[in-house]
Amino acid sequence: MTEENRFIDRYKTGNTPWAHQHPDFNLMDVIQQKNIKPCKAFEPGCGLGVESVWLAQHGFEVTAMDVSELALEKARKLAGSSAERIHWLAMDIMKDEPLIEEYGFIFDRGFFHTFDTFEERNIVAKKLASSLKKDGLWLSLMGNKDGVPVRTGPPLLTATDIVLAVDPFFEIISLQVSVFGNEEANPHKIWRCLMKKRQ
Ligand SMILES: C[S@@+](CC[C@H](N)C(=O)[O-])C[C@H]1O[C@@H](n2cnc3c(N)ncnc32)[C@H](O)[C@@H]1O
Repeated sequence: MTEENRFIDRYKTGNTPWAHQHPDFNLMDVIQQKNIKPCKAFEPGCGLGVESVWLAQHGFEVTAMDVSELALEKARKLAGSSAERIHWLAMDIMKDEPLIEEYGFIFDRGFFHTFDTFEERNIVAKKLASSLKKDGLWLSLMGNKDGVPVRTGPPLLTATDIVLAVDPFFEIISLQVSVFGNEEANPHKIWRCLMKKRQ
């Protein structure tokens, strides 16, 4: 079964341990600290769309994308009246091309880290760069290899995994250690990486 089918299947069976109710504080922190102004934003692998809704409610013009149509359907319902302000897009980033040089800000939470190999991460980073306009920013939240591995936990990356894949296309503005913002008592250690598209 392909990676994307694995995710489609997981939404069908409800095996989605990453699901959370409240917007991740890492997104809010970075938007505030880096003074990122409302613009066209893209959330690949949006899942149930919690952060896309937060961005839309804070003035961003959001495209929320996922390979799972079921996830998008659930996300639309959960978004309530905010759903109309979001463009929901079913797409497989490995097969389809994202929109070109369109966005000012990309946010992903646990999407980039799902790609297991350097080659896949490199393709995804290149595609995301091509969908950003000049000086566009990408904030990615990724499982951190220095965290405690848990069988049902997120994939874990090293700083080297990240740098090797993104460096040709992005300047790294900051790479910080944090934890996922969710309702768990002991949330996983993550990387919080803010990048700017290279010229
Ligand atoms: C770990 S989940 C994170 C979901 C959400 N961002 C969150 O934090 O709750 C990864 C998401 O990426 C999506 N995904 C995985 N591979 C994908 C692909 N090739 N193209 C688009 N979305 C993909 C999955 O369907 C899933 O919703």
